Parts: sequence; C-alpha cells; structure tokens
Amino acid sequence: MKKRIVLLPGDGIGKEVMESAKEVLTAIAEEYNHTFSFETHEIGGAAIDLYGTPLPDPTVEACKQADAVLLGAVGGPKWDQNLSHLRPERGLLGIRKALDLYANLRPIKGFKNLLHASPLKEEVVAGSDLLIVRELTGGIYFGTPSERRENGQVVVDTLSYTRYEIERIVDKAFQAARSRRGRLASVDKANVLESSKVWREVVEEKKAQYPDVEVEHVLVDAAAMKLITNPSHFDVIVTENMFGDILSDEASVLTGSLGMLPSASLNESGVGLYEPVHGSAPDIAGKGIANPTAMILSAALMLRYSFELEEEAKLIENAVQSALDSGYHTADLQVPNGRLVGTKVMTRLIVDYIKTQNASKCIASCYY
Ligand code: IPM
Ligand code: MN
Repeated sequence: MKKRIVLLPGDGIGKEVMESAKEVLTAIAEEYNHTFSFETHEIGGAAIDLYGTPLPDPTVEACKQADAVLLGAVGGPKWDQNLSHLRPERGLLGIRKALDLYANLRPIKGFKNLLHASPLKEEVVAGSDLLIVRELTGGIYFGTPSERRENGQVVVDTLSYTRYEIERIVDKAFQAARSRRGRLASVDKANVLESSKVWREVVEEKKAQYPDVEVEHVLVDAAAMKLITNPSHFDVIVTENMFGDILSDEASVLTGSLGMLPSASLNESGVGLYEPVHGSAPDIAGKGIANPTAMILSAALMLRYSFELEEEAKLIENAVQSALDSGYHTADLQVPNGRLVGTKVMTRLIVDYIKTQNASKCIASCYY
C-alpha cells in the first residue's frame, strides 16, 4: 500500500513524539511492504514564528493532498499573549474546518497496570472502556459573529448548528456503537438550549435506523457526574463540540494515563487527522522525557480508520501493551517497581516488538 502522510509536529513535545510515530510507521512499512511517504509542515506557534500565521497556506494545501495527517500538539506560553487570530490553537481549529473534520473520536480505555494512577478508586474505574464522539466543526467554536460590542461592554458568541451537521455526527456515533457494545448516550442540554432540543430530535429520528443500538439522552451536567461515579456505564457518548471538549478532558484522566490517549478526526471521505489528546507540555519539551505512546497510538488509529490496516494497527497497540507489561514507562506515569525510560527508549522498545513479533510470525508460518 502506498500512502502520503503529512506530519504536523507543532509545538513543545509535539516535535519529539512525532519522531517516535514516524519511526514506528517506518518499521510497519518495512515489515508489511507498504510505502509511506512523509512530508513535514508547520502549524501552531512554530508556524507563527516562521510565517506569522498559525496555519500557513502550504500546510493546508499539503493536508488536502494527503491520505492522512498526523498532528503533534500546538500551543505554549510563548504565544499566550497573542491576539486571538494569532494564537497557535487557531491553527488547529483552522485545519479542522479546512478539511471538514467533523467527527472527533476519542477512545478512552485504561491500561490494566496503570489503573492505580487514576484519581478514582480502582474498582470504580476498572472495566471502563468508552468512546467519545465529539462534533468538531460546528457549535460555539465556529459561531458568527463572535465579538465584543459597545466598547467591550457586550460580548457575543453564538452556538449554531445545521440539522445536517447534527445528523452526520449522530449517524457516525450510531455506527460506532453498533461496532462496539451497542449502547449510545447522547449528551445535550435540552432543558435549556434550542440547539440541544434539535439535537435530541435528530437522535430520536435516527434511532429507528439502528434498532440494535440502545439509546439514552443524558444532560451534560449529569453526564459529567456519571463519568466519575460510574464510568463503565458508558459505551459511546455523542455530543456537540464544546460539551465534547470538556467531557473528553474529564474522561481522559480516568485511566490515569493521559499521556497514552490517541484521537482521530475524520471527514466524510475518510481522510483523517490523528493526534494525541494531550497538549504540547511546554514544561517538559526538549528534555527527551515525553511519553510518545499517545502519538504512536494515534498513528495506529490512522492505519485502522484511514487505511483500513487493522492487523498493523493491532500490532502497534500490542507493542505498546507489551512495553507496559514489561514495566517500562515514561516519567508521567508512576509504576511501582517499574523501569523508567525516556522518549527514545520507549519508542525503541515498541519498534523492536513490532520487528520481532512479525519475524517470529514468519518463522512459525514457514516452519509449519
Ligand atoms: C482539544 C483542544 C482544542 C479544542 C484547543 C487546543 C483549541 O482542547 O483538541 O480538545 O478545544 O478543541
Ligand atoms: Mn480539549
């Protein structure tokens, strides 16, 4: 298989973890005879420094031509005082919109031997395995006009959705629920917001098409509570952009391993942008200690969702699991009697597993 992959390392640890993902993908390409070509472009603060804008045109053009995009992270204190259109985050929002990446999938599943690091009791968090399907290109993030009026005495942000935007994300979530445990929680604020009432109507209309999926409506405040009192209640959660932003940060710490969570953002043609859930962690950038696994697992999601390479995706996930099972971990994780390693060693362990597993599979099949 031949694929063009655009790499957007961005800022902070984004650059370091992107190197790791590239090494892992190179190993996969060698093992399975794929040709992955990589092209690196700037986004976020790095792009502001070089080109005076967080999302330069060549970056957008390259992403539009690509089969998939991997993104590290954007942002850092250096650009915190910038005017809003010159903030690194604008680059991320801009590329989501430019590629129409409306479906943000954030799977949250704990690694068994890291559950002790969860802020929740192990027995509460054990067994939780959920997928947040967040609408990513509408809602209050992209409402117009968003502005200060009357000398700053009035501020306006608007939350707007078309029915079509709601329908396509709800469909995506039903399909995801169908391929998992068949349960969908639609999260809204229908007791207050008009957009949520329409959201609820759409879910009710759609559910006839998915009789095998069990649906419930949960108000967002109750959902926030339930996520920490009974996280294993949830299978798939579907929600609008900002609710999804907030709930996914809440959910991401449940597992005690924020540094390990990947995400996928997809458009209607299956082109996707894949990025870790964590940010650019400027405090540890450049020290070689960042956890590369969220980025590496994002590359695995890319193989699965954009290229339909399930076996290769699984091999990467098993490689990460195996490194953890052997007690290896980066500084963000506390593992009793563990073996603390840096970004490069963690990456090498994962790459080595990929190479040896594949080799042993070949030997076995040649022998029998
Ligand atoms: C995320 C981030 C972004 C968002 C920021 C960086 C604009 O928090 O991907 O969840 O709010 O969508
Ligand atoms: Mn967020």
